[in-house]
Amino acid sequence: MAAELRRPKVAVCGSGGLGRYITEAIIRAGEWDLVILSRHAQPELAERGIRVKVVDYTSHESLHNVLARQRVHTVISVIPDPDVQLVLIDACVSAGVLRFVPAEFEGSPSQRPLYSSSGRDRMTVLRRLDELRENNILVSTTFSCGLFMEYFVPGGWLGCGGGGWNDGTFLIDLKHKKAVLPIDSETGASAIVCLTSAIDVAQFVCGALSLEEWPPEMKMFGERMRLRDLLTIAETVRDREFKVKYLNEDDIEYNLSRAIASGDWKSQCELQTMRSINYEEYDIGSRDLNAIFPHIRTIPFEVFLRRYWRPSTH
Ligand SMILES: NC(=O)c1ccc[n+]([C@@H]2O[C@H](COP(=O)([O-])OP(=O)(O)OC[C@H]3O[C@@H](n4cnc5c(N)ncnc54)[C@H](OP(=O)(O)O)[C@@H]3O)[C@@H](O)[C@H]2O)c1
Repeated sequence: MAAELRRPKVAVCGSGGLGRYITEAIIRAGEWDLVILSRHAQPELAERGIRVKVVDYTSHESLHNVLARQRVHTVISVIPDPDVQLVLIDACVSAGVLRFVPAEFEGSPSQRPLYSSSGRDRMTVLRRLDELRENNILVSTTFSCGLFMEYFVPGGWLGCGGGGWNDGTFLIDLKHKKAVLPIDSETGASAIVCLTSAIDVAQFVCGALSLEEWPPEMKMFGERMRLRDLLTIAETVRDREFKVKYLNEDDIEYNLSRAIASGDWKSQCELQTMRSINYEEYDIGSRDLNAIFPHIRTIPFEVFLRRYWRPSTH
């Protein structure tokens, strides 16, 4: 019991989506005291004995009080809203939180040339964290992992309880055996993407909690492959040739301007992600976390897909 009291405390901000995966990994590891910060009471978590604190993310005071009273050591945010994260970061600083993880579990931020430098967006959050880290006020890191493999399960990431736009039809639609792939006009569907299951991402994030030094970015991936190989694996798993449409850079920009004009948010997200893929933002390159935690055996993409899909019968 005494040892348990001495365990440092981690707060996961956001109970759903990736937050749920990270929460489960932390509970399984059993090395950290855990508190979930949520906008709502979470009775099913509380019934399992998981501590949940309801917070008002518009109130610095509400966040400060919870973080200070709970003596939180590390905050992991899965909240995709930059404004909320900026309030949360300020509350972490005033409450004496030592480490912060922003909701950045995608491509490498250092390879993200396309996000605007004006306005409050994800880069604003990262710039604020850079400042705090450089001034030794708050340690932070981003976890780069590429695309979640869960994008390709029935119902996609939304079907896994995540937020956002991915319903399992982006890039490769295994249900309807079709694909829409961004291409380079010279080399075809040659962009490299990294893929990691959210289950593995959560395990690496949990493992990284025990590292004494946190670099500004930590990298992981389960698989690294060209888009055309992603398609080949999907066709092998479904045992069918897919109907494929290719979008070159001009198609992407044209469709994106139309999606923006018509307010088609899902298409905007899909096309922006395709643009990022073409810029190789989802090619993580190296995987330092896989090397540090070799016991975390990441699932290969084909094995992952076969858990959800059978060969097509029609
Ligand atoms: N690499 C990939 O392919 C990929 C795919 C999807 C997501 N991601 C990453 O994972 C992160 C989390 O995505 P997600 O889909 O898990 O997020 P999400 O489901 O939209 O949100 C996660 C949790 O955050 C809280 N939340 C959401 N919006 C909020 C708001 N406006 N204000 C306060 N709290 C809010 C909610 O928890 P409560 O209801 O408990 O408050 C929610 O359950 C993203 O930022 C992204 O970095 C990566």
